[in-house]
Amino acid sequence: MDYKREIAKLFAPHLTEEEAYSLLVPPKDIAMGDICLPCFRLAKTMRMSPVAIADKLAAELTLPPFVAEVKSVAGYLNFKFSSHDFASTVLGNVLSQGAVYGKSDLGAGKTVCIDYSSINIAKPFHIGHLSTTVLGAALYRLYKELGYNVVGINHLGDWGTQFGKLIVAYHKWSSKEEIERGGVRKLVEIYVKFHQEAEDHPELDEEARSWFKKLEDGDEEAVSLWKWFKEITLADDVPIYDRLGVHFDSYAGESFYNDKMDAVVDELAAKGLLTLSDGAQIVELDGMPPCIIRKSDGATLYATRDLAAAFYRKSTYDFAKCLYVVAYQQNLHFKQWFEVVHKMGYEWYKDLEHVAFGMVSLEDGAMSTRKGNAVWLTDVLDKAVEKAAEIIKQKSPDLDDPNEVAEMVGVGSVIFSALINNRIKDIEFRYDKILNFDGETCPYVQYTHARCASLLAKAGEWQAPRDYGALSDDVAKDILRNLERYPSLLREAADKNEPSMITRHVVDLCKLYNKFYFDNKILTAPDGVREARLALTLAVKTVMENGMAIIGIRLPDKM
Ligand code: ARG
Repeated sequence: MDYKREIAKLFAPHLTEEEAYSLLVPPKDIAMGDICLPCFRLAKTMRMSPVAIADKLAAELTLPPFVAEVKSVAGYLNFKFSSHDFASTVLGNVLSQGAVYGKSDLGAGKTVCIDYSSINIAKPFHIGHLSTTVLGAALYRLYKELGYNVVGINHLGDWGTQFGKLIVAYHKWSSKEEIERGGVRKLVEIYVKFHQEAEDHPELDEEARSWFKKLEDGDEEAVSLWKWFKEITLADDVPIYDRLGVHFDSYAGESFYNDKMDAVVDELAAKGLLTLSDGAQIVELDGMPPCIIRKSDGATLYATRDLAAAFYRKSTYDFAKCLYVVAYQQNLHFKQWFEVVHKMGYEWYKDLEHVAFGMVSLEDGAMSTRKGNAVWLTDVLDKAVEKAAEIIKQKSPDLDDPNEVAEMVGVGSVIFSALINNRIKDIEFRYDKILNFDGETCPYVQYTHARCASLLAKAGEWQAPRDYGALSDDVAKDILRNLERYPSLLREAADKNEPSMITRHVVDLCKLYNKFYFDNKILTAPDGVREARLALTLAVKTVMENGMAIIGIRLPDKM
């Protein structure tokens, strides 16, 4: 039952259910009650002071059985739920629904496309791709949980002049065997070498240009090398996605749109939106620089591909929303081409959304692919797992599967670091910080989960309690409120495309539960009380699991 909704129905004819619903808030002081209606908004229509309105309503309302008490305090109407009813309804909901608690069919019949990770072929899959990858994957699971049809797209950077350079470098300094052995790192190495060599030998650039031209013209050797570079890169990168639990429905990258851009350019021309500027074709925009569609040499641009991709996605998937999970550095790029779609007269430009996020900085500083000092994500994961293994060895030397737990903790901590704060915030990545067992961290959440799991394992079989009156202290009530709020929180997190709201909610739940755990005996509590506390523990564990599953973090039962 949605308590807030039930309360919201009580105020007719003064307020509609929706109005009341949006006004209801938790009271500032939880001792005052569980939910509260500020009466100021009613003063005009009811022609009374808020204080008098609250008094009048308190006296007149017909209360539903789960409300134990209503009080008027200085213009606020405070409702206190009966502990038993509130607890039994919340826990009943969570425990009967289990793994599907939070799931809904809100998005039934609607499709959301999510463009995320979108790494570049023959370039490092580096720490800068962490946020887009795990943020996109979390949104993917979140929208699925809310019943949407979701299409996860890895818009691979698989086209551009760099492939001409790579072909030259490959011919000059490498071999099939070497690349097969060395994978994408070898590709990056020869790419870096190309840039070093080209400084003294500018003719290399000329050669690279001519190879890229061949590739564009469909030359057999150029095309087969390009395809092979893609295979080599993905063979190294797909296992990283597996490790992170990240899934895509489509790997249609930039090259996929090679034959789909002319139609867009033609339509822009037909609609009179193209202007010639120094030989380049551009779309003029209000209040921002123009969007360049074709360079003077005829080459298309990143934005041209994004336009073609948007039209393709709209006609293929008929999305209700298309999200682009890309760093804020590209704000202008997205603003520009979204506006081009608007100018073309398509109302669905409003359904395109740039889900921007901040930068990751590392202890060891900046990186550049050209110079070859990128920090590879796979190395970061390995290092985190290695450090997690050391900590676990010290803290819990008797685990049956220490390696598996270290993998969950290490990888989980890296994911968590990108999904604990508001996405727009820059991230300062430090191993000791993310692997700290105390604080708002992944190991803290995992440890709390293991605590619940081991407690429940020790409890053995128990009967559902008949009376939940034991869960009436403030901490238990806060826990119940957290659990009760979880389904609506998921909807808000989707509205804002902000998975960190879920992470935070689970962290708050862990803090509350740990407080509850230290303040109360559970296994040795008297009959009835024991069962109520166990039920609470099981519900906490369930919501942690459901929330962390969306975030993409695995929770060990022992650690
Ligand atoms: N590959 C691009 C990069 O590394 C990101 C692509 C984002 N997606 C898009 N549709 N533009 O910057």
